[in-house]
Amino acid sequence: MSKTILVTGGAGYIGSHTVVALLERGHRVVIADNLANSSRLAVDAAGRLGGGEVAFHQIDLTEDGSLAEVFDSHPVEAAIHFAGLKAVGESVEKPLDYYRTNLISTMNLLREMQAHGVWDLVFSSSATVYGDPDVLPIPESAATGPTNPYGRTKLMIEDICRDVAAADDRWRISLLRYFNPVGAHSSGELGEDPRGIPNNLVPYVMQVAVGRRDKLQVYGDDWDTPDGSGVRDYIHVLDLAEGHLAALDHLEAGCDVFNLGTGTGSSVFEIIDTAERVSGRSVPYDVIGRRSGDIATSLADPSKANHELGWRADRNLEVMLTDAWTWQSSHPMGFGDDD
Ligand code: NAD
Ligand code: WQD
Repeated sequence: MSKTILVTGGAGYIGSHTVVALLERGHRVVIADNLANSSRLAVDAAGRLGGGEVAFHQIDLTEDGSLAEVFDSHPVEAAIHFAGLKAVGESVEKPLDYYRTNLISTMNLLREMQAHGVWDLVFSSSATVYGDPDVLPIPESAATGPTNPYGRTKLMIEDICRDVAAADDRWRISLLRYFNPVGAHSSGELGEDPRGIPNNLVPYVMQVAVGRRDKLQVYGDDWDTPDGSGVRDYIHVLDLAEGHLAALDHLEAGCDVFNLGTGTGSSVFEIIDTAERVSGRSVPYDVIGRRSGDIATSLADPSKANHELGWRADRNLEVMLTDAWTWQSSHPMGFGDDD
């Protein structure tokens, strides 16, 4: 059934790909984003690729009452909440910015939803809530223990959601713990466009391949992993987007949590090899010391989402990096060169 869905942070990397998936499914989309870390061009591209109309409101969710105009002008039936700050290192430097933006935005959204009788919510949580995991692959029941302010905001927001759902049984909330989202829309028209120096491996590798940066720094080859480099559960952003549709379709009273990952790990050296193969470019690198706060391996047990949401991430590493390369090679400066 087609619905009107509010997508906060819908101009961002994961949000814009999810907007495409929502439009393809026939939903109407309303985006609320302050463009702090994104481009208006991503909104246009998502509308084009999804073949639908997107209403866009440039608002800051931390501002009291900013969402009132959105709920007053659209018959919103559900929300997907991506908006927030997400850089781990920056959160250590500027913890108050992270607590303020991520927590206040969410509380404003929840209050506005409540005031308008909208009870269906899907929230972008993160595997970072597990910290250094005590079990691999990681099930939702594993202990949580984030190791940085960004991760703590995610766990606090999860707790807020659990509390509001316990207080009023009209809420239907799904907390999605993403593992490592990578890749881009296969058209090459939409992709990840980090501002400044990328924090994450795949966008950094792509910028080296396209010649925008000289070489990659590999953060350690002495981890307790098969080749000594860090192992992660990379998931194609379009599989992740489809996970949101599945979560929306399966909302139930209360607040539930799902891992969204593939269950397959890839090392930094496998990423480099695959990126070189699909791009036909070389990716020079130096091995340097470990990055503070890193862990050896992060790997999802996605079986709960597979069984309960009927969802599975099928796109493999080759597809993830091919699509990332199609985007990067056609937009070497991201959306910036289209401005
Ligand atoms: P992104 O930065 O591309 O998207 C976030 C969007 O939120 C941006 O468009 C930004 O402009 C907007 N925003 C930030 N503060 C805002 C505010 N105060 N008001 C309105 N809009 C605001 O990030 P992303 O990678 O697309 O991540 C989306 C969500 O998924 C985030 O909540 C992030 O924490 C979470 N997440 C991301 C990853 C990842 O590796 N990318 C992994 C796990 C979870
Ligand atoms: C992957 C691997 C690095 C960069 C982060 C956040 C997490 C989530 C996803 C939001 C690791 C290595 C990286 C580089 C490298 N985001 N690496 N050189 O750290 O698993 O997760 O993004 O919720 O919260 O912590 O992802 O892409 O930064 O690193 O060697 O220049 O690549 O050490 O092994 P990470 P990543």
